[in-house]
Amino acid sequence: MNPDIFLPPQVAWATGALAGGPLIRKTTRLADLPGIFANSEAWKCGDPQQSVYDVDVLGSPVGEGALFVGVTHLHAGRVGDEFFMTRGHFHARREQGEIYFGLRGVGLLLLQTEAGDARLEQVTAGSVHNIPPFTAHRLINTGSETLSSLAVWSSIAGHDYAALAEGFVLRVFAAGQGIEVRHD
Ligand code: 6PG
Ligand code: NI
Repeated sequence: MNPDIFLPPQVAWATGALAGGPLIRKTTRLADLPGIFANSEAWKCGDPQQSVYDVDVLGSPVGEGALFVGVTHLHAGRVGDEFFMTRGHFHARREQGEIYFGLRGVGLLLLQTEAGDARLEQVTAGSVHNIPPFTAHRLINTGSETLSSLAVWSSIAGHDYAALAEGFVLRVFAAGQGIEVRHD
């Protein structure tokens, strides 16, 4: 092969599996999410070791202007009637936006401004989500299979979880065969 041509990492669009590069995986388990779900009794009854989501990030340079690529695999499940979701965060560098792409599964992207205005975008294979600056974001899996979403964000964005200690203003629950959105 021509020595000037490099093989980049690959994403399998159907599954979100990343390959061909250094990968850093972080698994978030039920035990890591105290106070996140509305029903704390149901949370205590769950298996603390159960994986709620895995985030794979391609190892890449960090610095002003450099971007990260990662995939979140949010498993299907509930705590009580509330669907599994990510912790959710503002970026520490609030002015940094982010792009999410739905790869598989079905769910919702919950967006919330610093003023507390929230909205939900439907996530499906092929959906494109342009998360604006100054906007907190959380994935919610409303389906019965893993929800996988590819993300591209600034390597200097960082995470501010503390700013959402009070939680988001919307929660999403299973109701019969459908879903119910409740205002906290
Ligand atoms: C980021 C991305 C994304 C996110 C994961 C897990 O800024 O890094 O938004 O990779 O971190 O989906 O969500 P939490 O960071 O909220 O646990
Ligand atoms: Ni983010």
